Amino acid sequence: MAKQFLLASLALVVAAATDDYTPVVAVVSHPYNSTHESIPASYVKWLEMGGARATRMPYNADKKLVETIVNNTDGLFFIGGSGLLPDSAKQAYSLITNLQDDGTPYAIWGTCLGFQWLTQLITDAGSPILTSGYDSENLNLALNFTAAGKDSRLFNPKSDYTVVDLVGLLTENTVTINQHTFGVKPETMEDVEGYNILSTNEDREGKVFVSAFEHETRPLYGTQFHPEKNTFEYGCNSKGVPVEPTKHNDAAIRHSFELSRFFGREVAKVRGDRWQAESGVEIIYKANKGIIENSYEEKYVFKI
Ligand SMILES: *[C@@H]1O[C@H](CO)[C@@H](O)[C@H](O)[C@H]1NC(C)=O
Ligand SMILES: *[C@@H]1O[C@H](CO)[C@@H](O)[C@H](O)[C@H]1NC(C)=O
Ligand SMILES: *[C@@H]1O[C@H](CO)[C@@H](O)[C@H](O)[C@H]1NC(C)=O
Repeated sequence: MAKQFLLASLALVVAAATDDYTPVVAVVSHPYNSTHESIPASYVKWLEMGGARATRMPYNADKKLVETIVNNTDGLFFIGGSGLLPDSAKQAYSLITNLQDDGTPYAIWGTCLGFQWLTQLITDAGSPILTSGYDSENLNLALNFTAAGKDSRLFNPKSDYTVVDLVGLLTENTVTINQHTFGVKPETMEDVEGYNILSTNEDREGKVFVSAFEHETRPLYGTQFHPEKNTFEYGCNSKGVPVEPTKHNDAAIRHSFELSRFFGREVAKVRGDRWQAESGVEIIYKANKGIIENSYEEKYVFKI
């Protein structure tokens, strides 16, 4: 009797834990100075807005640490910035595609430079997929959807509570913020097996670049624009003038939220309560002892 009761209580505890589990996404931090790495706070807040928690994958994480972090997370996030594709990202990508092959829907998202890292990883080609010389810094754009884009998972978030027509919203409103000089020409990506170009855009000189893609079956997503900036970046210079022309209007905020919630739902599909406190993989919320600096953006800074 007592034993039966104990087993029943344990079952309840396990079920409750699974219900309450919030997915964890590893964010690769970038070199900051010789002693620190950093992650703009906007990415962490954007993941939290979508229903995920964030942890950090150090840029130079060794093989064992990469494996521990992948084992304890549900998604991987590549941020924007300027770092070259590190070995940690290559190794994580290979572990994750193996997990996906074994049926675990572990998801990856890349934004801006992270989008470019992801295109380098999927082509296994290093840098040739990238083209330099785009004039698309500080540029707000409406998206030019492909047929695949109109029909994509990314831009048709399906939920009982989705109220936004994202394809319509992003076709009609000039709200995606671009900050890049490198980019991916549609021709270079068209032949990459398994990938769908979802939208393209032109830079100020009419040069076309891929602005969003997804894998046909794997949960891999990339946006050349920055959906996290609309909700979480307001940086001004010392004279109080915004450093970037990021929009904060209704359409801008809604696209930021819908894309963040889309990724939050993707990582929630992994299930299995992969994150374990004993692993030492720390959630950035609270555990971050780094400084939040104000240059033009808020940053979390981590001692290497
Ligand atoms: C790197 O930046 C951090 C955060 O601002 C600072 O505490 C640290 O002293 C810096 N390190 C060097 C070598 O400048
Ligand atoms: C990660 O998980 C795999 C599969 O369960 C296991 O074989 C491996 O030892 C784990 N690695 C680490 C560092 O925890
Ligand atoms: C829209 O996409 C088409 C087909 O990819 C391309 O030819 C055109 O230049 C794009 N227009 C803009 C404004 O991005």
